Amino acid sequence: MLARGGMHLPALANPSSLWILSPTKDSQILGYRRAYTAAGEVYSPSLQRKVARSFSELPGNWRTGWLNLFHFWQEGGFHNVHNIMIHKFQKFGPIYREKLGLYQSVNIINPEDAATLFKSEGNYPERFMVPPWMAYRDFRNKPYGVLLKKGEAWRSDRLILNKEALSLQMIDCFVPLLNEVSEDFVKRVQVQIGKSGRGRWTGDLTNELFRFALESVCNVLYGARLGLLQDLIDPEAQNFIDAVTLMFHTTSPMLYIPPSVLCRINSKTWRDHVQSWDVIFRHADKCIQNIYRELRLDRKSTKEYTGILSSLLVQDKLPIDDIKASVTEMMAGGVDTTSMTLQWAMFELARTPVVQEQLRAEIFAARQAAQGNMLKMLKAIRLLKAVIKETLSHWCLDW
Ligand code: HEM
Repeated sequence: MLARGGMHLPALANPSSLWILSPTKDSQILGYRRAYTAAGEVYSPSLQRKVARSFSELPGNWRTGWLNLFHFWQEGGFHNVHNIMIHKFQKFGPIYREKLGLYQSVNIINPEDAATLFKSEGNYPERFMVPPWMAYRDFRNKPYGVLLKKGEAWRSDRLILNKEALSLQMIDCFVPLLNEVSEDFVKRVQVQIGKSGRGRWTGDLTNELFRFALESVCNVLYGARLGLLQDLIDPEAQNFIDAVTLMFHTTSPMLYIPPSVLCRINSKTWRDHVQSWDVIFRHADKCIQNIYRELRLDRKSTKEYTGILSSLLVQDKLPIDDIKASVTEMMAGGVDTTSMTLQWAMFELARTPVVQEQLRAEIFAARQAAQGNMLKMLKAIRLLKAVIKETLSHWCLDW
């Protein structure tokens, strides 16, 4: 997903990466559904009857990396990446190999192939390591977080974080923090509608949802509000949001041009990238200091949940720098993923007013029945959950 130049890069593995493009309605029309051979050693029993091709036999343009990169940029680069990939799938089939600059990937489009891959990953899945993010940490001598770690180091951190971030029991803790932000967002929409005098509001939805997502994620992670939903944003919070935006913007070019080269020539992209991460990490430092101060002053009740960072610090199961690294990476991973999901869901709902009405009716009914109990309400909104799942299966959110 490319929200404000941002991205989330979950399904890529370096140096020979694997890209999964969600098959949209369009791509299915293009006829990619026929069975195909899987690449290399990764194939399901159903595919074993078919002949697997070796890495060097895969179709695709993977011999002329720099020329390919030049064409990629000519065709619009990251802003047009889905169309570029669709055309390549059309040309080479549902599994193709590619080289852009120094960066190699194998791209797949069929959900069965993605399932085969995920099933065969084992205990230590290979992830795309986001070279510029790693380069920053190496440059500043900071540890990697869960998004960038590998092997056993990744697994042990991940098991600790799973309990804090993914276990179902945590929903009870997250909901009040998320709800607080959501209510402010709804108020903001209502105020803007009121101000317009026309009964409607025309705004920059991408930007609004990005701010909403960042405010929500930060409230859950740091247990603190940034104030991004106000008309007048505190300069320090604005500095942080600008840094997150710039960090994402400067990541894209460094996916294909090695950060080490840009660092050596001290290019603006590299300098901006370093500066933006510095601001993001300083923000994490400040939050940690605040949490410690509150704990020292005994102002925080031990029963009150005040976010993932605070909880990890109190548990003391990870070194502080590792906590900081993972919380910062969760912040980077949780913003554009969620805001773009919402934006695509709204786009789909705008195209299907019937579902929109059903959804509205479901939410009103659930709200009335729940009488302010958000957890109860969440259990009763099955259509809303289906809309989000459907959106995620139709639209690739990585760019
Ligand atoms: C609709 C929203 C989201 C989507 C579609 C999404 C998608 C993904 C996917 C596909 C992966 C790769 C998982 C894997 O390969 O096993 C991933 C990893 C990750 N996501 Fe998300 N994500 C979303 C929201 C979030 C949020 C809200 C956060 C943080 C608060 C987050 C943080 C991360 C992190 C840290 C990883 C790396 C995990 C690891 O390597 O252990 N994501 N995401």
